[in-house]
This record gives sequence, structure tokens and C-alpha cells, in this order.
Amino acid sequence: MSYRTTMCAFSDAHRNFSPRLGNKKDIIIESYKKVFDDLTNAASPKSELFWVLVDLFVTGTDTTSQTLVWAVLLMTKYPDVKVKFCSEIDTIIGRDRFPLLSDKVEMSYCVSLIYGVMRYMSLVPFSVFHSTTKDTELGSYFIPMDTMILRNLWYAHHNQELWDAPEKFRPECFLVKGKFMENTNFLAFSYGKRVCPGRAFAMDELFLTSVYQEFDVTVYNPDFEPLVGMLLYPKSHNVIFKKRHFPR
Ligand code: HEM
Repeated sequence: MSYRTTMCAFSDAHRNFSPRLGNKKDIIIESYKKVFDDLTNAASPKSELFWVLVDLFVTGTDTTSQTLVWAVLLMTKYPDVKVKFCSEIDTIIGRDRFPLLSDKVEMSYCVSLIYGVMRYMSLVPFSVFHSTTKDTELGSYFIPMDTMILRNLWYAHHNQELWDAPEKFRPECFLVKGKFMENTNFLAFSYGKRVCPGRAFAMDELFLTSVYQEFDVTVYNPDFEPLVGMLLYPKSHNVIFKKRHFPR
């Protein structure tokens, strides 16, 4: 596939998966173009480097950015969560320095908040398509070879038997005695051999502290009905940033 054909395919795919875009220019498509233009000088479109970068762009952009948008929306709806989050930022980081990724170990509420958003919204509700490579038995089901498989991660995240009050957004469900605790029922990055390889990187990108250290962020008229594509996209909103602190 040529570089140009690849680019067009990405633009189309991105537009199809992002229904809110319409005909507007999109920063992700524009950055694809820029990166691919630069890349043609650095690596041949046939090289492995080229395709590795393509993979990272396709899988690593909307997933993290849209999770952050859901976090901002949810904190508008649940101001008590925002108060706890900001209070942890004020206690652990304070006002006199930028947040560091190393702060995360002491910020259990912040980490739980992001896990909470990912569970509650289940951004990639059916993970991605897989298929059986041989005749398979799963419980009492027989699944023939070459059957397309979609796993319902959204359902697993909203199953009453696995979570307390799954219909509520509660970062606390990832806290045990005030400390963040991994939960094996959390499947936002899917599971098994093809589990998302970008998950550690994503969790660093989702460290939402620097904006809330400075600003009280609220969304005007939040609407939680997602736009359904491969991901559950939040709708576009107007966002209000109010400075939290004034110069001392
Ligand atoms: C909120 C952030 C993210 C979420 C919710 C997410 C979720 C997922 C899911 C559900 C899959 C499908 C796994 C499967 O086939 O069962 C996947 C695959 C993948 N993700 Fe992520 N992802 C995120 C961020 C990232 C980032 C930041 C990168 C890289 C920079 C990345 C790279 C990939 C790649 C390369 C695959 C395909 C793996 C394969 O097919 O073997 N992801 N991700």
C-alpha cells in the first residue's frame, strides 16, 4: 500500500469512527499527515518502523484523549469526586511545582479515578474483533473455527456480580483501605495474549493532574449519551476553566 493510500484510509477510518467530526478539520488527522510526511523522509513506508508508528498512532490517540474527556465530564457530574481529586493534588503536589509521574505512587485517589472512568465508560465496549483459529468449546458452547468473536467488556464492567453498584461512577471501587488496588475484573485494556500493549504508557498519559492543579474545570450542559463507533465517543462540549489559585 502506498503512503498516500494509507493516509487516505486513515483519514476515512478516523472520520467514520469519530461521528462528531462532520466536515471539520481534525487535529489528529492533521498530525497524522505531518508525521507521515516527516516519516517518508526518515523511513520507507514499507519498513517495519513505518508500520509500528502507524499502529501506535491509530491505537494510542483517540483512546487516551477520549478517556480524558470522559473524566472531565464525569467530574462535572460528580463534584464530590473532583473535590477529593483536587485535594489529593494539593496535598501531594502542592502549588509550587509541576506534577511528576513519580507522584503517582502516592496518589491512590487519582489513579483510582482514571480506572473508575475507564470501567464506568468502557470506551472500547467490545474490544476489537478476534476469531477462533480452531473448533473451540467455551463452557457449554461450541464455537466452530473461523468464527468472529466480540467480547462485551462493557457488560463485564457493569455486572452486578463482579462490582458493587456498577451503575454508579465510584473511583472508590479501586481503593482498599485508601490505597489503589488492581482489580482482576477491570478489562478496559482487554485481556489474554493480545491485551493492549500500550496500557502502561496510556496510564501515564492519563495522569490528569496538571490541569486540575491550576484550574477548576467544568463542562457546560454535560451530555453523557455517547456517540457510538468503535469507541464510545463523548459529544463536543464547551468547557469552562476557572483559575483555582491566585498569585500569593
Ligand atoms: C485509554 C487508553 C487505551 C485503551 C482503553 C486501549 C484499549 C485497547 C483494547 C481494548 C485493545 C484490544 C485488545 C485485544 O485485541 O483484545 C487494544 C489493543 C491495542 N492497543 Fe490499546 N488502548 C489504549 C491505549 C493505547 C496506547 C496509548 C497505545 C500505544 C501507544 C495502544 C496500543 C495498542 C496496540 C498496538 C493494540 C493492538 C495489540 C494487538 O493486536 O496485539 N493502546 N487497546
